[in-house]
Amino acid sequence: MTALVDHPAHDRTARSDTFTRPRSRRPDLRRWQDGPTPASLADLLALTREVAAEVDAGRHTVEVDPAHRWSRRLHADDHLDVWLISWATDQAAELHDHGGSIGALTVVRGSLTEWRWTAGSEDDSNCPAEELPARGPGLRRRALDPGRSVAFGLGHVHDVSNRNVETAVSVHAYSPPLSAMSYYGVEAGVLRRTRSELIAPGQAPE
Ligand SMILES: [Fe+2]
Repeated sequence: MTALVDHPAHDRTARSDTFTRPRSRRPDLRRWQDGPTPASLADLLALTREVAAEVDAGRHTVEVDPAHRWSRRLHADDHLDVWLISWATDQAAELHDHGGSIGALTVVRGSLTEWRWTAGSEDDSNCPAEELPARGPGLRRRALDPGRSVAFGLGHVHDVSNRNVETAVSVHAYSPPLSAMSYYGVEAGVLRRTRSELIAPGQAPE
């Protein structure tokens, strides 16, 4: 594993164990009556933006592992977990969902490419025209450039990768904490689940 040099080694105050709790990480418990998590997609978007700003300011050590996607859990409680992930060139997740969790990510630096499964044209307004060869169900691509945030509702199936020379860094939040994921393939234009896995507490999201 190779340590990045983007963080002063002497700055012990910036280590993740001093992680502070942004305001948006305090869920409104009254929302429990509305579902299994008090967090909304908007909350998770705001949270990942807050933490991304912390990362950008050098408050968290970022490492890069050329052999495997590197990640570190920055925060965990009963309601959500927050992960810092680095993506070396060509490192990618598989096509996956997030089990019973909703989520969001913000790109701190570098650029990521997301391929997400869409049922049809309702998402097409967010895609460049050249990326819409068909209007039916299928995988849609979108570039996630620095500062871009996206949210994942229940059932969101996507693959994320870094296709650029520059290492990408992103902050991800899940609520409830990620506990299961399913993986998918696309055969003849049909999305097919290939396997499902339980995620142990603290296990890095794949
Ligand atoms: Fe994901």
